[in-house]
Amino acid sequence: MPTAAEPLLPEPLLQVRDLRTWFLTDSGPVRAVDGVSFDVHAGETLGIVGESGSGKSVCAKSIMRLLDEPARIVGGSILFKGRDLAHLDDEGIRAVRGREIAMVFQDPMTSLNPVLRIARQLIEAMTAHGRFTGPAARRRAIDLLRRMGVASADSAVNAFPHQFSGGMRQRVMLAMGFSNEPSLLIADEPTTALDVTIQAQILDLLRGLNRDLGTAVVEIDVGRAAPTGQPGSDLVDRAALAACAAHDGDDGHASHRRASCSAASRESAPWFSVSSSSRSLRSRGPSVFSVLIGS
Ligand SMILES: Nc1ncnc2c1ncn2[C@@H]1O[C@H](COP(=O)(O)OP(=O)(O)OP(=O)(O)O)[C@@H](O)[C@H]1O
Ligand SMILES: [Mg+2]
Repeated sequence: MPTAAEPLLPEPLLQVRDLRTWFLTDSGPVRAVDGVSFDVHAGETLGIVGESGSGKSVCAKSIMRLLDEPARIVGGSILFKGRDLAHLDDEGIRAVRGREIAMVFQDPMTSLNPVLRIARQLIEAMTAHGRFTGPAARRRAIDLLRRMGVASADSAVNAFPHQFSGGMRQRVMLAMGFSNEPSLLIADEPTTALDVTIQAQILDLLRGLNRDLGTAVVEIDVGRAAPTGQPGSDLVDRAALAACAAHDGDDGHASHRRASCSAASRESAPWFSVSSSSRSLRSRGPSVFSVLIGS
């Protein structure tokens, strides 16, 4: 029986367990994500940091099931509201993607259609899921842009993406991400392409939206934009480390280290703690590392 001192924790919104996403290449499997586990609770912000190539984006795309060949989820589970996204059929994942889980990428130009006005793209994102349609969707598009800090939103909504600066485009992407009121937003380096001042504004905006709308946020590489030595410490509720350094073992095979990272709340010190053990594995692909993130 739980006591008052041990309250029953609500089920996590997202439970990633032992996720393995490999690139099945002609020259052998590349274990881009190899045993990743972490939880995201409703309404919280989880920051994931790790070196380039450690599998952060592949992990995010696995959750959204936006993997290109030859990447394949070869093991583990991605439980979201009781469903395993790793094994959901195409129709099932389409209903989740964009509506219940939205994603914002590093470069908005790759996500925005250059020949369509902002209004049309925002409205289509909403009508595709039948959440908001017609004039209500248009009104919501303008409201969302205003909320994202776009000046003169009612005229700006008629612009084309190229008429917007990089920071403005990222605000549009955030508007699109939040447009269907998802329970979870995954932001993959949403500010990397922006200058430092705009980076801070976008991260503030994201934090405000998380607070005001209660949307859980997984923010990848939040640390790059953090102003202090503690990556992202003031921007996320919990943080998780996404990789260990890669190096080749003496036997010529990739040496594989698994990090077990306990994500700490930002009030507690240290920010996160890492313990790791080594083992060798035969890999013909580049040295890629498993991520094990625990709460
Ligand atoms: N098409 C591919 N074929 C084989 N391996 C690939 C392919 N695409 C990516 N990888 C491997 O997957 C690994 C993880 O890539 P990923 O993009 O997730 O890294 P990341 O942590 O997001 O890095 P960054 O911080 O630079 O965005 C890379 O190390 C790379 O070797
Ligand atoms: Mg990446």
